[in-house]
Amino acid sequence: MAEVTRFTHKGIFFSPQYHSVENLIFLENEFQLLDDDIVSVVYPKSGTHWMAEILSLIRHDGDPTWINSVKLADRAPWFESVTGMECALKYPPPRLMSTHLPFRLFPKSFLHSKAKIIYTARNPKDVLVSSYHFGKALKIIKDPGSLEEFLEKFLNGNGLMASGSWFDHVKGWLEMRDRANFFFNTYEELQQDLRGSVGRICRFLGKELNSQQIDSVVENASFQKMKGNKQSNGAHISDTVMDHTKGKLMRKGISGDWKNYLTVAQNEYFDRIYQEKMQGVKMTFPWD
Ligand code: A3P
Repeated sequence: MAEVTRFTHKGIFFSPQYHSVENLIFLENEFQLLDDDIVSVVYPKSGTHWMAEILSLIRHDGDPTWINSVKLADRAPWFESVTGMECALKYPPPRLMSTHLPFRLFPKSFLHSKAKIIYTARNPKDVLVSSYHFGKALKIIKDPGSLEEFLEKFLNGNGLMASGSWFDHVKGWLEMRDRANFFFNTYEELQQDLRGSVGRICRFLGKELNSQQIDSVVENASFQKMKGNKQSNGAHISDTVMDHTKGKLMRKGISGDWKNYLTVAQNEYFDRIYQEKMQGVKMTFPWD
């Protein structure tokens, strides 16, 4: 097996197979966000693909032709990766882009632009479990080890890659929440009421869809539909990056799976760290 390598930039680790320091510096300091850009910001394993699918469908009034014919990474490129940036620079506006980056590495040009940001958060215990399983299949990160070991790494900000600590990520992005061009939502809300969420996202984007078009977004962004869509279900992830026999991007798609994995002691430990790190955050989340 090839040796796993990684590099650290501003305290966050990245994979040289996807990222480069040059691209991260360019992105932060020189990349110009345009007023009609839409950027989906998601900590890994919190619904990145789901939100990209929803936004792709909204863009095309619920018509699934685009999501069924163009791979997700080309519809909503991750601009922190080298190939994602190439795609973003060639993307005919209005652009749709994705990122896992914390706010402190995000393009500075955001502060002077009307680009719309949609931030999706997920219960960190489910993020942990999803990351653990995905990490077992990823060849470009060190093996997560046991769940006990990975729990420690996750809580210390060493989960998968490109995003740092879950706590810092959420807290950093929440500082933007009073801006008119920032929309915060959660994986759990999408799950409880996808139709309602699609309506709220459309209002934020200033996009009007009729009832049938919204129905089509909801139907085509369902877990089952996405699982069967090879443009969206992770089938494109190269064998050099992921061992597809060891894990799936579209794993379970449920909330609360952490209850099947964390022991009582691990859960209490998680809660203790959570309380400490989220102290002072004046916001109630669906998992609180
Ligand atoms: P699980 O591993 O818990 O199943 P990301 O896209 O950020 O990598 O997140 C992947 C997680 O989102 C996986 O969680 C995956 O199953 C879930 N997911 C993807 N599409 C979904 C959908 N349409 N509905 C519900 N969950 C979805």
